Amino acid sequence: MGQLAGHPNKSIALIGLMGSGKSTLGRQLARRLERPFFDTDEAVEAAAQLTINDIFERFGEAHFRQLEREVLASLMGEPAKVIATGGGAFADEVSRHLLLERTVTVWLDVDLDAILDRVGNDDARPLLRGREPRAALTELARSRKPLYEQAHLRVGDSGLTLDAVVDRLAAALSERGG
Ligand code: S3P
Repeated sequence: MGQLAGHPNKSIALIGLMGSGKSTLGRQLARRLERPFFDTDEAVEAAAQLTINDIFERFGEAHFRQLEREVLASLMGEPAKVIATGGGAFADEVSRHLLLERTVTVWLDVDLDAILDRVGNDDARPLLRGREPRAALTELARSRKPLYEQAHLRVGDSGLTLDAVVDRLAAALSERGG
């Protein structure tokens, strides 16, 4: 699939909880759509010259959100990409509005158990540090669901291969006209 009808200039932004596969799926979708891939977490780390954990520890979450907003804003004048956002970007009001207005947003709505398998013991996730992972993720899922539901498109992954999810998503984006 080359250019999308309708909105070929709009980036596609993947949103959803940590561990929902935004980066993995995003890279594959970008290849399929022949667009550059961009990961906001990586860009924030590069801009700050610190890991996300260190940013949270030294400057707090509010500072991380500000950097995340700046990274997202800097992308808006650029050629259309596939963007993997950090799990909390869409929960930030400023970033959410920007993404909703300027990109086609796709919520990766993945089962909590699958997410727990991936991130349960991951020390690099500041919002899980020192917390019981299932309880922390259940709470994040509950509070963010009403926001994630505002995404333009939603895609699940239950029982599907990565290729099949990319197929579905590419078809849905094409139907939607970008
Ligand atoms: C966060 C998710 C992380 C990262 C940061 C905060 C969140 O990104 O941005 O740790 O608030 O859910 P991933 O969703 O890529 O893990």
